[in-house]
Amino acid sequence: MRTTNYILALLISSISILVFSCKKPNTEEVTPVEVSTLTPYTLNSPNYFPKLIIPSDNPLTVEGVSLGRKLYYDTIISNDGRACAQCHSQQYAFTDPVSNSLAHMNLAWNNKFLWNGLVEGTLEDIMTFEVNVFFNTDVNKLNSSSTYPSLFKEVFNSNTITTQQVAYALAQFIRTQASTNSKFDKYLRYETMLTSSEISGFVLYNTEKGDCFHCHSLGLFNDNAYHNNGIDSVFTGINMGRYNVTHNPNDLGKFKTPSLRNVELTAPYMHDGRFATLEDVIEHYNSKVHNTATLDPIFFKPSHLYGLQLTAQDKIDLVAFLKTLTDTTFVNNPALSQP
Ligand code: HEC
Ligand code: HEC
Repeated sequence: MRTTNYILALLISSISILVFSCKKPNTEEVTPVEVSTLTPYTLNSPNYFPKLIIPSDNPLTVEGVSLGRKLYYDTIISNDGRACAQCHSQQYAFTDPVSNSLAHMNLAWNNKFLWNGLVEGTLEDIMTFEVNVFFNTDVNKLNSSSTYPSLFKEVFNSNTITTQQVAYALAQFIRTQASTNSKFDKYLRYETMLTSSEISGFVLYNTEKGDCFHCHSLGLFNDNAYHNNGIDSVFTGINMGRYNVTHNPNDLGKFKTPSLRNVELTAPYMHDGRFATLEDVIEHYNSKVHNTATLDPIFFKPSHLYGLQLTAQDKIDLVAFLKTLTDTTFVNNPALSQP
């Protein structure tokens, strides 16, 4: 019981709150009569998550989510036969072992996107980027299709499909890709127990010994910030990370902290997929952190100067804990699969 209380106290103290930025509603395209015909979609937000981010000009509706889902799985929105789902596959928590894409889960609670944070803002902003820059979506194909015009008309009440509407519909669907039912979530809700190995792993994770929680903070299992976690001693090309966006030397080798939810399913690891297994990742933090000018100060703590000094059992326990973050409900949720 003492351990549980301790863990809960740590949990509460390490949850950070996201600041909600409010956008002006886009009044041009919406008429009140039509809006009322749409069915509001309610997304549950666990009390250990930061604030849910939903801009007022793109409220979640059942019809909008359904349209976004159809687009997500359809090659019609790309100029070269690809669909979003090709590189963001549900069985891998919407990532992909080959392209090492970033997972789509709980992005409704994030406001920094891509490994180097090239796009900061709302899901609408990153979707506008994906549709215009990455996919170069040709809306003429949608406008002349037999199915899409009526679906867009229903959701956005306009007669012409625009790239903004495509982005907004995708944003609605991606917002519903919520992973909140891992074994660890069930443990937090007193619905299940953890094994003693998993508990030991959690204690390592969430105390100064393993020290994962400062960056992969509980709730979302990320801290919505950029860090250099010491994987490189020199920085070139994409390994320069956040520097490639800001050109600030203090940002060399810094990347957005990825969420560790479903990490068992999202191999290979790091922005360039350099580590194949969780054991490789843990050995990196244990004994291979490179000391450079931008290395995160965490790794300079007195207790970390000679690495984490984890025992073989510690490493097994940490991996066991990380696997409690796998959410089989999420990766099998029929509402998120190909329609
Ligand atoms: C060819 C593979 C591929 C396709 C197709 C693809 N993506 Fe991605 N996606 C990636 C990769 C790789 C990344 C990580 C890139 C980076 O950060 O440098 C990524 C990152 C993202 C992110 C950022 C997630 C985060 O946590 O920051 C979002 C959102 C996203 N993609 C949405 C989409 C959408 C929507 C589509 C369809 C319009 C799409 N992607 C199609 C490979 C792909
Ligand atoms: C100083 C912040 C920081 C600390 C402390 C930290 N991490 Fe990380 N972690 C990161 C960042 C940033 C990345 C992404 C780096 C990259 O892609 O180059 C990352 C990546 C990872 C990944 C790869 C995830 C993926 O989807 O590719 C795993 C797994 C991971 N960390 C586990 C841990 C564990 C376990 C600990 C504790 C032993 C830990 N981290 C401590 C910041 C941190």
